[in-house]
Amino acid sequence: MAIPNSFDILQAVIEATLDAIFVKDLEGRYVLVNEAFCRFIGKPHADIVGRNDYELYTEADARAFIDADQQVLASGRPQVFEGVATGPDGQPQTYLVSKGLYRDKDGQSLGVFGISHDITELREAHENLERTQEALFRSQKMEAVGQLTGGLAHDFNNILAIILGNVELLQRYLPKDPYTDEIVDELLRATLHGKDLTAHLLAFSRRRLLNPQAVDVNVVVAEIVRLLGRTLGATIHVTTSTSTDAGMAFADPAALEAAVLNIALNARDAMPEGGSLAIHTSTVKVTAPRKTDDDLEPGLYVRIALEDNGAGMPPEVLARVFEPFFTTKSGGRGTGLGLSMVYGFAKQSGGAVKVVSTAGLGTTVSLFLPLAGSETQVPAASTVPVIPSNVPRTILVVEDEADVRAIVRRQLESLGHRVLVAEAATEALLLLQGPGSPDVLLTDVVLKTGINGIELAQAAREARPGLPLIFMSGYATVPEAQQRIRDTGAPLLSKPFTTPQLERAVNAVCVVLK
Ligand SMILES: Nc1ncnc2c1ncn2[C@@H]1O[C@H](COP(=O)(O)OP(=O)(O)OP(=O)(O)O)[C@@H](O)[C@H]1O
Ligand SMILES: [Mg+2]
Repeated sequence: MAIPNSFDILQAVIEATLDAIFVKDLEGRYVLVNEAFCRFIGKPHADIVGRNDYELYTEADARAFIDADQQVLASGRPQVFEGVATGPDGQPQTYLVSKGLYRDKDGQSLGVFGISHDITELREAHENLERTQEALFRSQKMEAVGQLTGGLAHDFNNILAIILGNVELLQRYLPKDPYTDEIVDELLRATLHGKDLTAHLLAFSRRRLLNPQAVDVNVVVAEIVRLLGRTLGATIHVTTSTSTDAGMAFADPAALEAAVLNIALNARDAMPEGGSLAIHTSTVKVTAPRKTDDDLEPGLYVRIALEDNGAGMPPEVLARVFEPFFTTKSGGRGTGLGLSMVYGFAKQSGGAVKVVSTAGLGTTVSLFLPLAGSETQVPAASTVPVIPSNVPRTILVVEDEADVRAIVRRQLESLGHRVLVAEAATEALLLLQGPGSPDVLLTDVVLKTGINGIELAQAAREARPGLPLIFMSGYATVPEAQQRIRDTGAPLLSKPFTTPQLERAVNAVCVVLK
C-alpha cells in the first residue's frame, strides 16, 4: 500500500474536521477555507476565497475578527478568542477560535490562520445550568429564612401570649391610676404590635392559620378598589378589567384581601407623583412541567395582576423583594414585610406570586391562586350566634408550655370559669373521665408528648359525644391537620389571643350546654 504524502493527509484532515479552518493573507483576504467554514458562514467556497471579512460578515462581526487578527499580528504569538457572530440563519453563534501566524521559510509572516469551534450549544447549556443553580439557591435561601422566621414566630407567639394575657389582667385588676394606666396601655400597644409582626412572619414562613374557601376574586378586587379610593389620592388612576370567567379562587378571603392591598400600596408608593394602577383578573392554565421550586404545578389558577407605571425596580432590588425586612423605603416608612407576606400566603395556598419590573417603566405583580373546584368548596366557618353567658363552666386546658398554661388558666378564671389543666393527652383523658368532669375541652394542637390535640379531641368526643371543643395554636401545621380541625367544627384560636377572644370562643361552644 502506497503511503500518502503529508500534503494529502493534511488536506484530508482539514476537510474532515467539524471545526472551521481558514487562512487569510496580510490584507485580510481569505486564501484557504475548509468545508466546515463554508457551512459556518453559509456560502460556497468560490464566494469566500479572495474576499475579506467586511464582504462576508456584518460590520460589527467583521471588526471583531479583524481586531483579533491585529492582536495576533502584533504579538506574533497564537491566541484564543471567544465571541458571538451572526450565523447564516441570522441567529447568534458563539465560537471559540484559536488564531496564529503562518510564515514563509525565512520566518516572514504571510498572514493569519484560525481554527474555530462552534460552542453555541455548550454555552447555552452552561447558562441554563447557571440559571437553574441560581433559582435553586434562591429558593433554598427563602426556605432557610422561612424555617428560621417560622420557628422564631412560634416561640414569640408563646411569649406574647404570656405578656398579652398578663397585661390584660393588670389592666383589669390594677387600681385605677393615671400613671400606671398609661404604662399598662403602652405595654398593651407594644404587645399588639409584636403580635402583628409575628403574624407577618408566620405568613411569610407559610405557617399562618388560614381558612381557605371558594372566594370570588372579582368581589375582592371591588372591595380593594373601594378601600383604595381613600388612600390612593386623586393622582393615581385605578382601572379594573375583571374577567367574568375568572373563577373562584380557593384561598383565605381575609388573607387574600390583605395580600392584594399590600401589592396595591406598593404600587402607590412607587408613584409618588401619580400614575395609573390597572388590576386584571383571569383564569390561567399552567401546563408546563415544574422546573424550579418557584414554578407552579400544572393546573388551573385564578390570576390577579396589578400593573403600575411607577418607578419600577432594578434587577438587584427585584431579586430580593420577597426577603423579609428587605425594603428600599427609608425613615421607617417600610418594614419590608409586605411582599414576604404575599409570598408566604401564595405558597401556603398552593399558588405563587410573580413580579415583572423595569426600572423607570413600572411593575406588574401577579398573584396566582388555585381555582376552587366543586370538591374543594367548604362552607365558611360556622358563625354560631354568640350568646353572652356568664355561666361558670369547668374548662380543661391542655397545653404543654407551663407559662402559657398558667396564663390561659388566669384568663379563664378572670372570666369566672373553673379550670383544670393537663400537660399531655393521657392526663387530659383521665381528667375527662374523672369526677368534676369538664364542660369544655380547650387544647393546643401540637403537644410535645403523646398524641396531638386533634387526636385527643377525637378520643374525647368518642368518650363524650358532643363535648364542646376549642383548639388553640401558635401556627399552622400541615394542611391535612387544618382540614381535620375544620371537620370538628370547633373554633381555632391563634396564639396569642386576647381575653375577649377567648370569652367569645367559650360562649360560642357553650350554647349547646344547658
Ligand atoms: N410596585 C412596586 N414598584 C417599585 N418597587 C416596588 C414595588 N413593590 C415593591 N417594590 C420594592 O420592593 C421592596 C419590598 O416591598 P415590600 O412590600 O416587601 O416592603 P415595603 O413596601 O418596603 O414595606 P412594607 O410593605 O412592609 O410597608 C420595596 O421597598 C420596594 O423597593
Ligand atoms: Mg409594601
